[in-house]
Amino acid sequence: MDPQRLKGNFAQVATHGMDVAEFFYADLFQRNPQYRSLFPASMARQQQVLLEALVQIVSLVDDPERLVPYVQELGRAHGGFGVTAQHYPEVGTSLVATLRYFSGDDWSAELEKDWGEAYGVVADVMVNAAGQN
Ligand code: HEM
Repeated sequence: MDPQRLKGNFAQVATHGMDVAEFFYADLFQRNPQYRSLFPASMARQQQVLLEALVQIVSLVDDPERLVPYVQELGRAHGGFGVTAQHYPEVGTSLVATLRYFSGDDWSAELEKDWGEAYGVVADVMVNAAGQN
């Protein structure tokens, strides 16, 4: 995984602002309509906090000493939201689909691999932390 490539790609995607989070949840609920009821009726705040969390995670992607505690805390919170390990791969699929969409012609097999690996590590840490509630 190449942290600089991942950061560069995210910086470019993030110029699309809230459209990114909107696209992500639309994609997630289209593929998995049963996930909609986990979330509040109004998604405005959720879109905002998701984007902020992604910014934070990407900024710390090469700083595991700070990334891990942040992600553990997030994982524990998700245990309380009714999120289980089974949800994580589907969310990863929609996240990668969203990044691919906003990257346009800049998307590459390398980026697909970077994001898959980074998401896999974050998901593992979140799931493990939730199990330790
Ligand atoms: C990299 C993975 C993820 C990130 C960065 C992320 C980010 C966040 C953040 C920042 C919050 C707000 C936390 C708070 O209010 O304390 C949140 C809430 C939530 N997330 Fe995630 N999340 C991730 C994975 C997932 C997965 C796999 C699911 C399963 C569908 C999920 C469903 C939810 C739900 C249901 C809430 C609570 C909504 C509410 O009632 O306000 N998240 N997420």
